[in-house]
Amino acid sequence: MTETRLDRALQSELKILQDEGRAKPPERIITAYHPPENDLGPRYSLEGENRRFLRMSSNSYLSLSNHPLLIARADNATHACGVGPGAVRFIDGTFSYHVALEERIARFVGKEAAKIFNSAYTANCGLALSIGGKATQWIGDQLNHNSIIRGMRIAGVPSGNKSIYAHNDVEDLQRCLEAVGGDITRVVVIFDGIFSMRGDYAPIDKILAITDRYSDKFTDGVITVVDDSHGIGAYGATGRGTPEFSGGTPDIIIGTFGKAFGVNGGFIAGSGTVVEAVRQRADTYIYTNPLSVADCAAATTALDICDSAEGLQRLDNLRQRTRQFREGLEKLGFETIPGPHPVVPLLVRDTAKTHALVKRLFAAGILVVGLTFPVVPKGDETIRFQVNAAHTEADIDLVLEVLARTQ
Ligand SMILES: Cc1ncc(COP(=O)(O)O)c(C=O)c1O
Repeated sequence: MTETRLDRALQSELKILQDEGRAKPPERIITAYHPPENDLGPRYSLEGENRRFLRMSSNSYLSLSNHPLLIARADNATHACGVGPGAVRFIDGTFSYHVALEERIARFVGKEAAKIFNSAYTANCGLALSIGGKATQWIGDQLNHNSIIRGMRIAGVPSGNKSIYAHNDVEDLQRCLEAVGGDITRVVVIFDGIFSMRGDYAPIDKILAITDRYSDKFTDGVITVVDDSHGIGAYGATGRGTPEFSGGTPDIIIGTFGKAFGVNGGFIAGSGTVVEAVRQRADTYIYTNPLSVADCAAATTALDICDSAEGLQRLDNLRQRTRQFREGLEKLGFETIPGPHPVVPLLVRDTAKTHALVKRLFAAGILVVGLTFPVVPKGDETIRFQVNAAHTEADIDLVLEVLARTQ
């Protein structure tokens, strides 16, 4: 293939990313899943490697991706309706599996209705396109996920209509509410439930106590939105996520089926009217094919499992293994951010040391991800460990032993 002028221009732009240390390394390619054996959890094969690896950086908190029932239900749905929807939803692409998943997730999170998206990313973009207007002020946590921030940019929210409060700082949130201009009729306060790089959580009860106080100041009130992509399914006594854990339910809940539930896809849940506004206005819903019926059937099954004795058992194991890992790290003297969530950051605070530790773990057959600038601020370089329900006591001991040898 001949190299075009565009290719050459892009190459020099990509080189700048390399030179600034901002380019992402090549992706490792997983080629096979190996089920649990004896006292060890699942292992994975990688292209170019003749051994098996323990995955400590997957979001699949309940470890349901390879569950035989999810696979069987996905297969049945595919046999019944095919592999692709053939159209966008409003034209000719809505199948009973889409509707069933919407009803099931709405019931799961305790809302009137829900709309499903291809991902939580596109759900966030869709929400920003659906519920705001010229007289809307958006107020968000400083560490909100990229999809919330990008969603507002895509929706063209002017900078004057956006305010940011310091991470989890409800007094600063109050300052933002106090500063909202007189021409604003609607305020949206939006935040992550679990902050994915840190594993800490939004104090939803305190946030709601503040927003309630300001609601009557604006014609349409103060609407609260949580993106609980890392919380739903993995957090709270019955897996209802950060609202359950911190004791408060925002007006709108956004989440993903691609993390704790082990499948794919996102959703927005709220009142029937909010969800209808989303269906009418969210371009990332309207103009794109929906999830496959296989994804929907698998995700619906994952929700059913989460609500069963098996689900509670998985959640319990997830909590126990997370506790084991966090206590082990503390005993070894590593710095972390405390809390009960299975995202466990190990703060290394140095780029070279982070890369070296990731390499040592890889050599010992453990897959983790090192987060360095610009994904995290300089000085906050971290290895993000993620515990899941299929990890065994022996798996966690192994990781701690390897870490102990690096001390
Ligand atoms: C808070 C938050 N929102 C959205 C997403 C995106 O989820 P999805 O993979 O379903 O697009 C993530 C995933 O990293 C996340 O952490």
